[in-house]
Amino acid sequence: MGLSQEDVQQIYRRRAALYDLTSNLYVLAGFRLPTYRRRAVEALGLRRGDTVVDIGCGTGLNLPLLRRAVGPAGRVVGVDLTDRMLGRARRRVRRHGWRNVELVRCDAEGYRFPSPLQGVISTLAITLIPGYERVIRNAARALEPGRRLVVLDLKRAPGWPEWTFRLGVWLTRGFGVTVEAAERRPWEAMAACLENVRMEELYGGWAYLCWGEAPRSRP
Ligand SMILES: C[S@@+](CC[C@H](N)C(=O)[O-])C[C@H]1O[C@@H](n2cnc3c(N)ncnc32)[C@H](O)[C@@H]1O
Repeated sequence: MGLSQEDVQQIYRRRAALYDLTSNLYVLAGFRLPTYRRRAVEALGLRRGDTVVDIGCGTGLNLPLLRRAVGPAGRVVGVDLTDRMLGRARRRVRRHGWRNVELVRCDAEGYRFPSPLQGVISTLAITLIPGYERVIRNAARALEPGRRLVVLDLKRAPGWPEWTFRLGVWLTRGFGVTVEAAERRPWEAMAACLENVRMEELYGGWAYLCWGEAPRSRP
């Protein structure tokens, strides 16, 4: 069964203090998260002065990369459900004195994207959101034509036996991953409302980077 929003918040409240450290431990298993993050931000194709939204921004590990991409005249908005994860992100923003980073506590499903908007990213978060299709649709509508939504997340690798999938879910359960969540297919929702959608498998198919462009002509 999928977790409720309250369950997800409880998990990330507990994880917040050590999140950065524990997510780095996955690097020991060959999951090259810092490299994947960098590639996800590059896939956004951001320019100086752009506005970009990070959905499920957590403790703000993408913020330095996003800030660098949009420059001091750009704007970065981090959105997250969990107060303590955002608390860590706030500390990061304060420590660096970043003036063009805003943090919003809200469920991504009800988030109203800013306008104009030139990029939306979500790393390791979209499959945790039961209404992820709505979030993707809203992002696609809010983006300027031709600008990108990029998702980096875990998925079921094709061709592997069922037990390996169950083991993967078990190993990541402490991050709120359930069988139901791991079987969500955000790239299909992206293909339904974006153009030029591309997907690259990472980590032997157990993760992916998917990006697409907001339609140039709207109905
Ligand atoms: C695994 S962490 C990823 C954090 C960050 N994006 C990263 O790459 O390190 C998942 C984050 O998604 C957030 N999240 C889960 N469900 C959400 C929702 N419905 N709306 C907004 N954020 C959500 C959690 O609070 C948590 O901070």
